[in-house]
Amino acid sequence: TSEREAKQLLKGVNMLVTAGPTKEKIDPVRFMTNRSTGKMGYSIAEEAAKQGANVTLVTGPTTIPYPSGVEIVQVDSAQEMYEAVMARYNTTDVVVKSAAVADYRPKYVHDQKMKKKPGEAVIELERTQDILKTLGERKEHQLLIGFAAETEKVDEYAQRKLQKKNLDMIVANNVTEEGAGFGVDTNVVTFYKRNGEQKKLPLLTKHEVAKNILHEVKMMMEGLRE
Ligand code: CTP
Ligand code: CA
Repeated sequence: TSEREAKQLLKGVNMLVTAGPTKEKIDPVRFMTNRSTGKMGYSIAEEAAKQGANVTLVTGPTTIPYPSGVEIVQVDSAQEMYEAVMARYNTTDVVVKSAAVADYRPKYVHDQKMKKKPGEAVIELERTQDILKTLGERKEHQLLIGFAAETEKVDEYAQRKLQKKNLDMIVANNVTEEGAGFGVDTNVVTFYKRNGEQKKLPLLTKHEVAKNILHEVKMMMEGLRE
């Protein structure tokens, strides 16, 4: 494989990026969500578009500005994200799944605001669909890049997800590490590839991390063509 980094090296590549948290309704005034801001995914989408890719960004609710040059698909829930991603999978070459998808949603969405009652209350939860795992099961020509945000045993959990979801690469970070994870402009990540290769990057801006991820994508795509 050549190491060339021509500017438009992703030209003609159809890329689907997911970003941000999902939002799961409890009642008309309440929902469950998580701390994802969407920064990592938005950086990837913007940089990929700059390098010539046709980018669709499926985004959960965020407060940061949309990247330029990409098609935006707004979703709220994990189920909506699932449907938006599946509808586009056939025509996609590369999926980068940086969204922080809810693993559970309230089993019942109340039509009226829930009223407080004496004593304790329980909100029953049910599992959402694992979007990335489904993509892995239905993989044909696509390259699949997943993320793993962990607080412990990063190596073990990341490699397990790589295998279980049939990914080509997983980008793992320990969100408790200084400069990594939610809300900040930097990240400390390790790439784990299908072929066993591992690459630990230093503390970088999310934009730099995005460039590194896209570099790996290009290398893997060249590998596929050979
Ligand atoms: N993911 C997904 N659909 C879900 C849950 C996760 O597509 N319902 C994707 C995420 O976008 C991410 C990868 O799977 O790219 C790993 O997510 P993560 O939450 O780290 O792993 P889980 O498989 O959900 O396992 P756990 O939360 O128990 O660690
Ligand atoms: Ca999860």
